[in-house]
Amino acid sequence: MLLVTEAEASRRNLLTGLAAAGVALPLVAACGSSGSDSTGTVPSTGTSPTAAGTPASGGGGGGGIKTSEIPVGGGKIFPAQNIVVTQPTAGQFKAFSAICTHQGCPVNRVAGGTIDCPCHGSQFSIVDGSVKGGLAQRPLPEKTVKVTGDTLTVT
Ligand code: FES
Repeated sequence: MLLVTEAEASRRNLLTGLAAAGVALPLVAACGSSGSDSTGTVPSTGTSPTAAGTPASGGGGGGGIKTSEIPVGGGKIFPAQNIVVTQPTAGQFKAFSAICTHQGCPVNRVAGGTIDCPCHGSQFSIVDGSVKGGLAQRPLPEKTVKVTGDTLTVT
């Protein structure tokens, strides 16, 4: 009995949520609650209502960065995009993954010509991402930077 009640509640919640989202559903099994529901579960639609409005992530996507945001001889970390953009010399822009190649911590500082990881002290060059210190053995993967006017796009 309890399972039927929970299943029915789940079905009602799902239907209410779908109706609120503007999804039209055919009305089936409106009075089918006899206590021996053969399915017992609400079929999955394979979609998640929480996915709506969530920005894409994980694939770079560093668009719309103003060149003026990036200090000459330094750089700036964009945590949401997992990238760090540097400007080793005026007008020369570089971008790298902001994930340390040692054990995957996000880097958290650009200073003194290096991109620094807080976890175990690895440091990477702002020029080419090469290892300058610490435990990392591999450079930060470089990204492609495209400059259009005063805007950077990183892919
Ligand atoms: S994860 Fe960056 S130094 Fe260890």
